[in-house]
Amino acid sequence: HRLMIGIIGAMEAEVAILKETMEIEEVVEYAGMNFCKGLLNGKEVVVVRSGIGKVNAGICAQILVDKFQVDVLINTGVAGSLDAAIDIGDIVISTAAVQRDMDAAVFGDPLGQVPQMDTFLFPADECLVQKAKEVNETVNPDIHTFTGIVASGDQFIASKEAKDRIVTNFHALCAEMEGAAIAHAAYLNKVSCVIIRAISDKADNSAVMDYPEFEKRAIKQNVRLVTELVAEIV
Ligand code: ADE
Repeated sequence: HRLMIGIIGAMEAEVAILKETMEIEEVVEYAGMNFCKGLLNGKEVVVVRSGIGKVNAGICAQILVDKFQVDVLINTGVAGSLDAAIDIGDIVISTAAVQRDMDAAVFGDPLGQVPQMDTFLFPADECLVQKAKEVNETVNPDIHTFTGIVASGDQFIASKEAKDRIVTNFHALCAEMEGAAIAHAAYLNKVSCVIIRAISDKADNSAVMDYPEFEKRAIKQNVRLVTELVAEIV
């Protein structure tokens, strides 16, 4: 079968430009989500808005595996930076993802560990990470590209305290709300995945103000990267 790539964004704004860019052949609805199947830059893709949070993202990823037999899951969107060196507009590519709000510490599990699973971090595909990094340095030369851990959870991070806790516990580069759920689904289904996030805010007390202002710019960087990346996937 031909290579099939699933591209998930949590919000309509995060997938709208991709949908405008691609040639849509078919739109199919499952679980209230519209799966847009077609060609992006010559590659077979399904682009979908999952909705916000880990549960929506996990459901969406599983549907892409079951109904569209995707080989690759790409999660694109915005995120809050957890590192002073990573600025608004910069891109973070996941090497792995963790569920920052998973907490069974009373039983001795480290924070973030899903109890009884054989992994703490849900890894990204190394080859995809490398390709994404190279492509981004070419198509978005005016911003910086970082690779590292993405911390996902069902909280928008908008205080120094919450931000510091995530940095201390997980040494993550950015905080968002879906990536680890998609990486978790990819892990269970043995498909490859990568999370690509453009920084929209600093996950601190300014986050609520910065986020809407920088969201658009961040999304444009992502679209450039994702559109060129899919062409490189073989
Ligand atoms: N997505 C974008 N910014 C975020 C933040 N500060 N926390 C969680 N998700 C985000």
